[in-house]
Order: sequence, then structure tokens, then C-alpha cells
Amino acid sequence: MIATLDSQFNTLQVPFTSPAVLLDPERKNLRVEHFEQMLSKLIVGQERAVRSMSDLYQVFVAGMNQLDRPLGTLLFLGPTGSGKTRTVEAAAKILLGESNAVLKIDCAEFQHSHEISKLIGSPPGYLGHRETHPLLSQENLDRYQTEDTKLSFVLFDEIEKASDALWQLLLGILDKATLMLGDNQHVDFSRSVIVMTSNLGAREMSELIFGGIGFTSAHVATHTDLTEVEQNIYHAAMDAARRKFSPEFMNRIDKVVVFRPLKEYHLQRILDLELKAVQDRITSSAGTKFLLRYSDTAKQMLLREGLDFRYGARHLKRSIERFLVYPLSNLIATEQVQAGDVVYVDTACESRKLVFVKRSADLLSAGTLEQSSARAALRSKRAIDRMTVVADKKCA
Ligand SMILES: Nc1ncnc2c1ncn2[C@@H]1O[C@H](COP(=O)(O)OP(=O)(O)O)[C@@H](O)[C@H]1O
Ligand SMILES: [Mg+2]
Repeated sequence: MIATLDSQFNTLQVPFTSPAVLLDPERKNLRVEHFEQMLSKLIVGQERAVRSMSDLYQVFVAGMNQLDRPLGTLLFLGPTGSGKTRTVEAAAKILLGESNAVLKIDCAEFQHSHEISKLIGSPPGYLGHRETHPLLSQENLDRYQTEDTKLSFVLFDEIEKASDALWQLLLGILDKATLMLGDNQHVDFSRSVIVMTSNLGAREMSELIFGGIGFTSAHVATHTDLTEVEQNIYHAAMDAARRKFSPEFMNRIDKVVVFRPLKEYHLQRILDLELKAVQDRITSSAGTKFLLRYSDTAKQMLLREGLDFRYGARHLKRSIERFLVYPLSNLIATEQVQAGDVVYVDTACESRKLVFVKRSADLLSAGTLEQSSARAALRSKRAIDRMTVVADKKCA
């Protein structure tokens, strides 16, 4: 091929200064590669979603986005609690520094056409014109941009619940990357990644995997039937979307990503992420700072209590709040835990409760909590073994 091209170019009499070099359009820019790696650490089991985000970012980094279209328009389909919203928040966290650096529009709140004025403001002369600050203003859109990342994330959650007026507004934005507010000012969305989410098709998908909505434990799909199941899931979601959304809308979407329902091994990894988030909450809070260590059985219990495949990781998060965060809050509020302590979390006698044992340590003067965490982790296994003996004795 190169030879043919060379001869074509030669006929143009271009003065070449080097031999032909085959280029690699698959290669990622270093910034984009870093972004993709970080995102795949935060988002479990949804490689397609991670990939579609990093593809968009590569277009942005290359400056190849069209100016009369949004930077990207993605439709995320899939069951509740599978990471649709989280993917956008995580991308914002990596690129803009904060998970909530996302302009979020919960379409369920704008089901009636008159509520649209909350988004675009009222025209001059209308009652409340001065009081309403439109949500979709340029100021709100640009608010989270940083010096080197001039892009924004806009999330339209649960679009199947949008009113007709909201649909019209959305179609306009997708088509021309611009929106006219009540006071005739234009908002420019050409540097925005617009993500729309919907649970459409979730019921059909769960039927394909689990054989019905009333399940509470997973049917373990074998690896041989996994690809076929995933393909069927994809088609079920796409069919549901095509039935509900107009071709006009579907044609304006750059990419549809179908999120897969999460399995137990995904939730196990999400549990580790969420436990780290609990530690981060404690470490970065203004209150008592201490370290948490978990026994394997404590983690197993949190996972077991958090497994309900209808709600994906949402149910797992509820389990963590209920069995871990609430009791921990009580321990902090009653000053049973002091700054610098190490709190070991274990289970006792097969019960549905966690037990908490603390050891005081001078972690704060020994350095930061992070620096001390390695040493504490080494000690934790012995302490948990001892603690389990104590708990077992209590049971007997
Ligand atoms: N694939 C995932 N990877 C990591 N965390 C996840 C994933 N899916 C869900 N979660 C966790 O569960 C929470 C709820 O998920 P969310 O993204 O809001 O679900 P939905 O798909 O309904 O938008 C998230 O905030 C996140 O903590
Ligand atoms: Mg969501």
C-alpha cells in the first residue's frame, strides 16, 4: 500500500525528505492513556463505557471536535446501579478534580413543560424573570473548567421521563450545540460532553440473565454463554431504546453504550473501592481521623448483605451504610474512637452484625495516617485473629 501511495505522491512531484512511515491511528496520547487507566480503576466491569469516554477525550486533546456540535453525545443504557452516572462523575473527578463537576439534569424533575423555565429561565417581562437563575446557563456550564481542561460534562439522567418540551430542548442542543435562554442569550455546548442515561430495557436484560425480576442471587453464566448473553442484552437494550426514542433522537447520538448488569465478582471489587471511600471520608473529614482494617469475614458479610442484583451496586452501598457507616458514626459521636486509633472490623458468630475493636496508636505523631497505614496493616492480621478468638468465646 505504501508503495502505491508513494508512486501516487511522486506523480505530484512533491519533494519528499523522508521515506514513507506507517502511522498508528490506534495509539493513545499519554494524557488520554492516563485518563483511561484512572477511569478503569474507578469503574468496574464497564470497559466499553470507559473506552467511549477516553475516545472522546482523545478527540478533545487533538482539538478535532466540531464547533457546531457538542464534543460528544453518549447514551448510556443499562440496569440501575451499574455505574452509568458514576462513569460521568468519575471522568469529571479525574479531569476536573471533583466528582460533582457535572451539570446534572434529573429529567424526572422536569416532566411538566412549565418546569422548563427552571432550566432556561423566563422571557423578559414574565413573572419571576429576575428571580430565576437558569440551570443551563453558560456560567454554570463553564463553572468547573480548569486552566488546562476547558470542557464540561452535562448529564441528562433518566431521559425516558423527560417532557416533550425537554425533548425539544435536548434535540436542539444535540443538533447545534447551542441553546437560547429565556432572555435570548445563547449557551454554547460545543465543549460539552453530553451524556444521557436511561434504565430502558433493564427488565428485559435481567430476564435474559437471571430469568426474571424476582431473583436475589445470581445465576452464574458460564464463560461460553457469556458473549451470547451479552449480545442479547445489547440487543434488548437497543430495541427498547428504539421503541421509546424517535429516530430523530437516536440519529443524533454519537455512541450508545449498554452497561452490563454487575455480577458478584464485580461487586466484590466495588466493595473494596467503597471501603476505601469510607476511609477517605474519615481521613479527609474535619472530625476524628483513624484507620480502619477489615477481616475477610467482615468483607464477606458486607458483600452478602449487599447482593441484590436488581439494584446492582446501589444495594451494596446501602449495606455498607447500614452495617458499617452508621455504627462507626455512633462510635465517633460517643467518643469511643479517638484520633489516631486503629479500628478492626470483624464478624462474630455468623451474626448479621459487625464487631469493632480498637487499638490506640500514636499514628498522628508518627506521620500521616497514610504513612502509618502500611504498618497498621501488618499488625491488623494478628489483632483480628485475637479478636476473633474473643468473639468466638462469647458465642460459645
Ligand atoms: N461499575 C461500577 N464501578 C464502580 N462503582 C459502581 C459501579 N456501578 C455502580 N457503582 C457504585 O454504585 C453507585 C450507584 O451507581 P450509579 O452509577 O448511580 O448507577 P446507575 O447505573 O443507576 O446510574 C455509584 O455511586 C458507585 O458508587
Ligand atoms: Mg444514574
